[in-house]
Amino acid sequence: MTLTRLVVNGSPVDVETAGLRSLADVLRRDLGLTATKVACGRGECGACTVLVGGRPRMACTTPAALVTEEVWTSEGLAEESADLRARFADTGAFQCGFCTPGQVVHAVALLRAGRTGPEQVRAALSGNICRCTGYQAIVESVCRTAEERAAAEPRP
Ligand code: FES
Ligand code: FES
Repeated sequence: MTLTRLVVNGSPVDVETAGLRSLADVLRRDLGLTATKVACGRGECGACTVLVGGRPRMACTTPAALVTEEVWTSEGLAEESADLRARFADTGAFQCGFCTPGQVVHAVALLRAGRTGPEQVRAALSGNICRCTGYQAIVESVCRTAEERAAAEPRP
């Protein structure tokens, strides 16, 4: 048995990581965090995107045993992303929704970093493959969220 201590969504947890189990597998099977989707399973689609140390990471190709920084999944980011998810719903930014948790997690990192120009967003999310939509509504959702957050900030 090979145990690795992870910190996931703010809580420490010891998980079995023998055999280079992927972070996605641990999150889904052991921790029940099934918002982390596995589509391609080989680092090509971004459906499994989580934040590791605040940076987007594809959990399907990340060995859980090698993770030393804090992990945040879509579930743990639910509060922070509530407005963003509402914009996804308003704009029709998803159809089947399989790519959506990964898109939202990645977009949380973009919003934190202020990388929210339309072209920046489109380029950054190009690795989060959506087979249903044309991306326009996804990009619009992120940009609108950034604008609304900026407008809500108190002015000096
Ligand atoms: S499922 Fe991880 S990149 Fe596709
Ligand atoms: S909404 Fe279906 S893959 Fe993106």
